[in-house]
Amino acid sequence: MHQGIEELRAMAAKAVENARQMDAPDSNEKSEESTPKIFEILAKQREPDGSYTFSSKELCDNYVAFLVAGGDPTAHTMSFFVYEVLRRQDILAKLRAELDVNIPSDVAVPSLDQADLPYLNMILKETLRYSSTGFGTFRTCPFDTEMEGVVLPANTTLALWNPAVHRDPTLWDNPDTFDPERWRTGQSKIKGSYFPFSYGPRNCLGQGLSMLVMRLTLATLFRRYDLILEPGFEMEYLPSFTLRPKRGLPVKIVRRKS
Ligand code: HEM
Repeated sequence: MHQGIEELRAMAAKAVENARQMDAPDSNEKSEESTPKIFEILAKQREPDGSYTFSSKELCDNYVAFLVAGGDPTAHTMSFFVYEVLRRQDILAKLRAELDVNIPSDVAVPSLDQADLPYLNMILKETLRYSSTGFGTFRTCPFDTEMEGVVLPANTTLALWNPAVHRDPTLWDNPDTFDPERWRTGQSKIKGSYFPFSYGPRNCLGQGLSMLVMRLTLATLFRRYDLILEPGFEMEYLPSFTLRPKRGLPVKIVRRKS
């Protein structure tokens, strides 16, 4: 892990250095029109002395945080989605029907609107309930806190363990059944019992982006290809930094005819 973080930091340092060079007024040989917008935004954040509001270290830290926090959970959620859909012919058939009606066969990658489809979204929501990749969130009580008559002493660590809540039979009907249809009528019985992206001011910064990436990728994948799961493969979960498939997802992919 430490080696991985070092590699990411080196990559981030290079990216930030490149961005700084492109943006520096004295070394910028590009025309106004070709200057990427991000550099205009960053330039506005310069202090009067010419420095940036973000230090290079802060930019590197954010770069690494986005890569680490964003890449794995998005990829693993898509693996869980593919696995559940391939195991259930009824779900696959409904998904295919929706994709075939809304995305023409000659479209290589659908537009954001074409991929924003009700049934696809229902399967995604159910995947994030059933196999929540951001499974453990921790908070510390800064002082003695009373909740529903229970006193949590200062410095208590609270673990918000969403698999326990997302599969709680007092909150969900048939919680251990993967059922996208439950999202047609609403969600669990108690508000606040579904939090794949956590809650509050420190919830996931990238949830909008990840939903968009997943919709586009999965719509493209299932519209263009037949996916065949390795016979006999059973998913095993590995709780790592995020929840992930222990042995990957062995799938054969064949281009669809139509
Ligand atoms: C399916 C995909 C994703 C899931 C399930 C997910 C889940 C979560 C969860 C549960 C948290 C809260 C962690 C905590 O409070 O301890 C979180 C935080 C965060 N996520 Fe995501 N995430 C996903 C994708 C992304 C993407 C694509 C990005 C960025 C490009 C991202 C960036 C972040 C950042 C920066 C935080 C920390 C926010 C803060 O502390 O203020 N995430 N995510």
